[in-house]
Amino acid sequence: MTTTEPIVVLGGGLMGLAIAHQMARRDHAVRVISRSRNEAAGFVAAGMLAPHAEGLSGELLTLGQKSLALIPQWVAQIEHDSGLSCGLRMSGVVVPFKTKEEGKHYPTAALGQPLNRKDLEREIPGLAPHWQAGLLFEQDGQIDNRRQLMRALEKACVSLGVQFLEGAEVQTVTRNRDIQELQEISLRTAEGEVKHQPCRTAVLCSGAWSQKLVPELPVFPVKGQMLSLQGPRKALKRVIFGPGTYLVPREDGLIVVGATSERDAGFTPGLTPDGQTKLQAGIQDLLPVAGSWPPMERWWGFRPCTPDEGPLLGKSPINGLWLACGHHRNGVLLAAITSELLANAIDKRPYSEEEQSILNTFSYERFAHKK
Ligand code: GLY
Repeated sequence: MTTTEPIVVLGGGLMGLAIAHQMARRDHAVRVISRSRNEAAGFVAAGMLAPHAEGLSGELLTLGQKSLALIPQWVAQIEHDSGLSCGLRMSGVVVPFKTKEEGKHYPTAALGQPLNRKDLEREIPGLAPHWQAGLLFEQDGQIDNRRQLMRALEKACVSLGVQFLEGAEVQTVTRNRDIQELQEISLRTAEGEVKHQPCRTAVLCSGAWSQKLVPELPVFPVKGQMLSLQGPRKALKRVIFGPGTYLVPREDGLIVVGATSERDAGFTPGLTPDGQTKLQAGIQDLLPVAGSWPPMERWWGFRPCTPDEGPLLGKSPINGLWLACGHHRNGVLLAAITSELLANAIDKRPYSEEEQSILNTFSYERFAHKK
């Protein structure tokens, strides 16, 4: 299906860009409306690709594993279309534990390689002595979302003809009340002009702000504060995923440290002394030597969360409006499968059994009857 009326993507964050890119690759006209690119969770996240190390379970683990398998090919497409590297590193992730027993009870223990203290010292020189056991997930990795992936995706989209409306805020999504069909979106441009645009096909990729446009959707913000440290190059080869704090080493020695998880903060912006102190304490608790590495940047953002912490994918309560939101802690990991799934859905390609099952599991309807 090739359309001339553009598919409108509501949100220029990672999910919006990934879907715009897939649709443009299929020769669709695409328009991305983005209020403020810096607020996008894709810029805020640490870029861990770690369904196993993050201890996911059930259908979310399966979804994460499927997306992880798609990532090399997805990244290759973006790198081809943009000419830029995305900074993918399958560096493996170590989850440390105080005791061997604790590790045995980790949800994904059976999928990791058990480590004793000697192994831990080999994998993470300088790890604090109270960590006596661990699990190594060699199949997990990371991508430099903040400095590379987002930029590469933007460039790939531009090179494929995607139009961008940056600084424009979508104010309402209007539906025909009788048949619940998408009719129009109204937006306020960066210059302050309010525009009403007829629209028949759109994708909601508005992250933590999704409920503002479609009130039925149970998406709420979970604030995360982060910082980065400049370590010596190669000081850390694996990601360390500790309880409450993780350290993600980039190729050039920059270490991204995350993250607070603040459910009561709502959309309150800014760093807090408490949040930053917790991160500093987490660094000290994991890798004391990193306490002396200079902090480079500090930032915060809002994870888009749902009551069961799984994403909302596929149909919405409004015909013509598709959902790709609510990815909570796993947006970077799930962008590959989300963009493929949504592109197939919008293109009306017959679903495979596997796709149908994912769309059923992560449909917004799972919350509809719980109201
Ligand atoms: N995936 C890590 C986080 O959301 O903090």
